[in-house]
Amino acid sequence: MLQSSKISKFTNLRLGFLTLSAIVLLSGFMTSVGAEEHAAPAAAAAPAPVVPGKPKADIAAGEALFTNGDPTRGVVACIGCHGANGKSAVGTWPKLAAQHTAYIAKELKNYKDGTRANPVMTGMAATVNDQDIANVAAYLSKQEPSLGVAQDKATIELGQNIYRAGMASKGIPACAACHGPSGAGIPAQYPRMAGQWAEYTAAQLTYFRDGTRKNSVQMSAIAAKLSDVEIKAVADYMAGLH
Ligand code: HEC
Ligand code: HEC
Repeated sequence: MLQSSKISKFTNLRLGFLTLSAIVLLSGFMTSVGAEEHAAPAAAAAPAPVVPGKPKADIAAGEALFTNGDPTRGVVACIGCHGANGKSAVGTWPKLAAQHTAYIAKELKNYKDGTRANPVMTGMAATVNDQDIANVAAYLSKQEPSLGVAQDKATIELGQNIYRAGMASKGIPACAACHGPSGAGIPAQYPRMAGQWAEYTAAQLTYFRDGTRKNSVQMSAIAAKLSDVEIKAVADYMAGLH
């Protein structure tokens, strides 16, 4: 659009010259695109180039870091809290198994930049670099999800209503719209919630509400409208999703 309107603007001036330069520009562009395509297979034999800001993930290295940490760099083993394969044993520590790569990476960066504050994880995140983050996120995303169950029969209906339909009267959208009908989330933006500990989920909703966690405009707005009773109900319901 922009190209053609520009060209028509100058039509009266030097149509011939412009057409020629357009062709030259275009063919130059095509050649460079083509060159890239053809270069790819040849480059595959050489070690993969590390694109700045987007390290190539090494799943085995991610597993090693998750399981053993790296004492030489002060990285504590994640497994101690997040459990074998990211299936943590208690609700104070979130399950990370099968969580989406981009979400895990974003959260670790948010602990570093302070938009998500937590006395434990801020320290942990400070010790890992971009390559570690890419590795560990790739490893965790490949683990089997860890299932849970809803505990409170009295609030399941309320929780289910909020999750599936939202609360129109309070302007609360259905959680399922973004976190998916089965809580699997939608990569890359919307995290998996199914099976997560209710205690952890409820805590996060209160952190979004009170501003301790301010790394999502969407979730801050939603949590601001949820009461304590609604938070407990929906968190318990989500724990049983699968
Ligand atoms: C001492 C316990 C502990 C250790 C060790 C630990 N974590 Fe955590 N982690 C936590 C706690 C507690 C939270 C929840 C913090 C909050 O409320 O924000 C958390 C949250 C997270 C989250 C966010 C999860 C989500 O669903 O948003 C990620 C990602 C994470 N940890 C990754 C790691 C990685 C990677 C390591 C190892 C390098 C690690 N953690 C080591 C305790 C720990
Ligand atoms: C418009 C999309 C959208 C809707 C609707 C939505 N969420 Fe979210 N939710 C997000 C996004 C995006 C994130 C990731 C935030 C981040 O970047 O840390 C998130 C994160 C969360 C987290 C943190 C997960 C973790 O592992 O720490 C919880 C808990 C959560 N949402 C609960 C809910 C509940 C409960 C509802 C319904 C009342 C809901 N969400 C509706 C988009 C949405």
